[in-house]
Amino acid sequence: MPSIQLKTPNASYEIVIGSGLIKTLPARLKKLKGSKPFRPFLITSPEIWGLWGRQVLSGFGKQEQPTVLFIPSGEKHKRLRTLEVLLEQLAAAGADRDALLIAFGGGVIGDITGFLAAIYMRGVPYVQSPTTLLAQVDSSVGGKTGVNLEAGKNLVGSFNHPLAVLADTDLLSTLPDAELRAGLQESIKAGVIRDPKLFRYLESNAEAILSGDVKALTQVVASSVRVKADVVAKDERESGLRMILNYGHTLGHAIEAATGYKQLLHGEAVGWGSIAATRLGVMRGIVDKAEAERIIHLILRYGPLTRFKAAPEKLVSLTANDKKNRSGSLSFVLPQKIGEVIIVRDVTRDEMLQAAEWTIALMRKEGAKKREKPGSGRKKRR
Ligand SMILES: NC(=O)c1ccc[n+]([C@@H]2O[C@H](COP(=O)([O-])OP(=O)(O)OC[C@H]3O[C@@H](n4cnc5c(N)ncnc54)[C@H](O)[C@@H]3O)[C@@H](O)[C@H]2O)c1
Ligand SMILES: [Zn+2]
Repeated sequence: MPSIQLKTPNASYEIVIGSGLIKTLPARLKKLKGSKPFRPFLITSPEIWGLWGRQVLSGFGKQEQPTVLFIPSGEKHKRLRTLEVLLEQLAAAGADRDALLIAFGGGVIGDITGFLAAIYMRGVPYVQSPTTLLAQVDSSVGGKTGVNLEAGKNLVGSFNHPLAVLADTDLLSTLPDAELRAGLQESIKAGVIRDPKLFRYLESNAEAILSGDVKALTQVVASSVRVKADVVAKDERESGLRMILNYGHTLGHAIEAATGYKQLLHGEAVGWGSIAATRLGVMRGIVDKAEAERIIHLILRYGPLTRFKAAPEKLVSLTANDKKNRSGSLSFVLPQKIGEVIIVRDVTRDEMLQAAEWTIALMRKEGAKKREKPGSGRKKRR
């Protein structure tokens, strides 16, 4: 089973990826805690628990059953008020410093649980057991935790690494197709920024990956995690290198904001944003055309990406709000070739506008193609 060690100045932990992992959860928790006694508290949502709860519980002995706490699913519950409910529930259940929290869900549950673990009794340990592709390849790794405010996403939180990440790729079998495809855009990102081999694997095995083949998915998750872990190890607090993880996200975030965070999944917005960033690379002569075409082709291959309606001018204005932008100058991550990106800080409004217009034109062309080919829409994969 692939296992990756993430070492930062503040933490060192294992990320294990593979099929059949949840059955070994109790044994792994015990190993993590050594000889110390602990009480497991598992945080999840009713939907996910309905699908996988029995399997998770079957691994735990009678005396060691976890206390299960539920939060409703959805980004709109990633708020301080949800955190307060959980804090009160932990206290009411008598959780003390021996508590060990387990985040069993997608990125929303992972981000909330990580923050909960950071603040309950000034900190208790936690483990990530991510259940979506996005959470397995991205959000469970790196220690960023937190919740949203009215003013914006992820504005409150802390850096808090888990004791371990245990990503069971069997769990992806119940994930809606669109969630799988959207999460894979982050894997494409990982390939573009740092791993040409992963990129080629995604090119050659799209059918198996998209049909949910566990072996192929395990390979993709492991390679994507390796990229993220490597970047985070070199720059834990996002002062430099970690910015490359933002490839596709500058315009991606603007697209999400312009559409009220409702129409597109995050990964879909990142897909469009990555296309725009790649176009910027071509416009600047940073990446050659053939290489850029391969990137754009792969992004669309893992579609269909939900289309959006937003004026290019609006998207460009919204990029100014991106919290990753330092001191007024806009940073863009542009591909140089597959596996290598550079950070450019002098992209002009006009250049952005051109790249956004080009991307929207491509989106329209793709939409027209789809309409000519009935029956090529979304299928649910089981
Ligand atoms: N901390 C980080 O570094 C980081 C990085 C990227 C994203 N994020 C955060 O992650 C969140 C998005 O995460 P997400 O995409 O996993 O969304 P999510 O947690 O909302 O999950 C998506 C949907 O899938 C369902 N689901 C989860 N697992 C399932 C399974 N195995 N089978 C069937 N359905 C399942 C959930 O109930 C939910 O409806 C955002 O809040 C984002 O800010 C954090
Ligand atoms: Zn992302």
